[in-house]
Amino acid sequence: MVPAPNSFDREIKGGLDAAERASRDEIMSLQRDRLAWSLRHAYENVPFYKAQFDAAGVHPDDFRQLSDLSKFPFTVKKDLRDNYPFGLFAVPREKLARIHGSSGTTGKPIVVGYTQGDIDMWADVMARSIRAAGARPGMMVHVAYGYGLFTGGLGAHYGAERLGCTVIPMSGGMTERQVQLIHDFRPEVIMVTPSYMLAILDGFAKAGLDPRESSLKYGIFGAEPWTNAMREEIERSFAMDATDIYGLSEVIGPGVAQECVETKDGLHIWEDHFYPEVIDPETGAVLPEGSKGELVFTSLTKEAFPIIRYRTRDLTRLLPGTARPGMRRMEKVTGRSDDMMILRGVNVFPTQIEEALLATEWCAGHFQIELTREGRMDEMTVLAEAREEHWDGEGLAEHAERLIGRIKDTIGVSTRVRIHAPGTIERSMGKAKRVIDKRPRD
Ligand code: DLL
Repeated sequence: MVPAPNSFDREIKGGLDAAERASRDEIMSLQRDRLAWSLRHAYENVPFYKAQFDAAGVHPDDFRQLSDLSKFPFTVKKDLRDNYPFGLFAVPREKLARIHGSSGTTGKPIVVGYTQGDIDMWADVMARSIRAAGARPGMMVHVAYGYGLFTGGLGAHYGAERLGCTVIPMSGGMTERQVQLIHDFRPEVIMVTPSYMLAILDGFAKAGLDPRESSLKYGIFGAEPWTNAMREEIERSFAMDATDIYGLSEVIGPGVAQECVETKDGLHIWEDHFYPEVIDPETGAVLPEGSKGELVFTSLTKEAFPIIRYRTRDLTRLLPGTARPGMRRMEKVTGRSDDMMILRGVNVFPTQIEEALLATEWCAGHFQIELTREGRMDEMTVLAEAREEHWDGEGLAEHAERLIGRIKDTIGVSTRVRIHAPGTIERSMGKAKRVIDKRPRD
């Protein structure tokens, strides 16, 4: 196999990779070369892509400039399921160094594969992400993303090693032990889902430890939507810098995009390896920079599992680069189109509820949303946990009333609110389950 074009060296200068220092023109020119390679690689080596391109009447030769990508068909999650387990691989099975997968909500997992070259590229973009979050070679990194088929743990692990850090491969769960090891080993960096970070915060309180006195300076949080209000809560509680990391198994895993600690203004997409588009989810039309829609990714260098115009269902917008001027940013993902609840015609995302809750004094961000049906009406109940110091039984009814008013005013929906005692809302060990849908299936 001809390797993907490479015009950048891997040398790190002034703390940044060559691609992070490149101009927009240089990145775009590299993308053109690499997209041409990736489209051809998929077409020639994956029968599914050949059939898709042929059916759409396009050929890799039709790609001459970046805007030509829109002629090529989308790939969706169902295509991965239909080709389960190994049908979309572009290299013989023996060339795979690793398999990952994601369980999804129902049925068969989706399966993705990596050559040794892909694992190397992934370690590089993860090392770049961890460095952008503030970490430096020699620091200790506590990885509390789950290890296993999920890409979080091993993705973080290889990236932190590549950067030259000391890795603690903790995985998720055993919260007391996590707290004890953070206390004893004194890592500067933690990588974990934001919701599990809140569980670790509880663990500090239980152990009688002051989280602000902990060694943690940098947190790299992702794998689920979270808000700037949650960032403030975590940063305040631990006296740390918290940044957002984004990725998905289908594209590589974590490390597709990362927020830079110096700006915290959305996530820089590592555009030398992943080409983003934002489309109108209804029509599929590519939207101009700045418009909100569904994020779509094409891999530029992946060997084992090239992915062409993959519809992520994540909603965001593209913005020009700042801390890395050659690469565009994506705004924090507010939610997936799948998470959107529609209540009496109003679209609601769990992140909007998170924001409303964290604007109160009494809630630390542990919550779930219950959907029920009464008659023909869908009802939403927010189950929100009170902070220890606010759980005195007094004023709770008033807190609930005020929150109902705030949600009505800011989001425009009528909800019920049930305030729960500290420690009683289910804690996640990985991705939080925010919505409990009790509506009958019709
Ligand atoms: O969650 C990869 C990952 C691991 C990312 C660790 C960051 C940190 P999947 O299990 O395939 O992969 O789930 C991918 O999770 O399409 C988004 O809906 C959501 N997601 C991931 N990162 C973020 C984020 C990993 N920073 C799906 N903000 C994606 C919002 C996120 N949603």
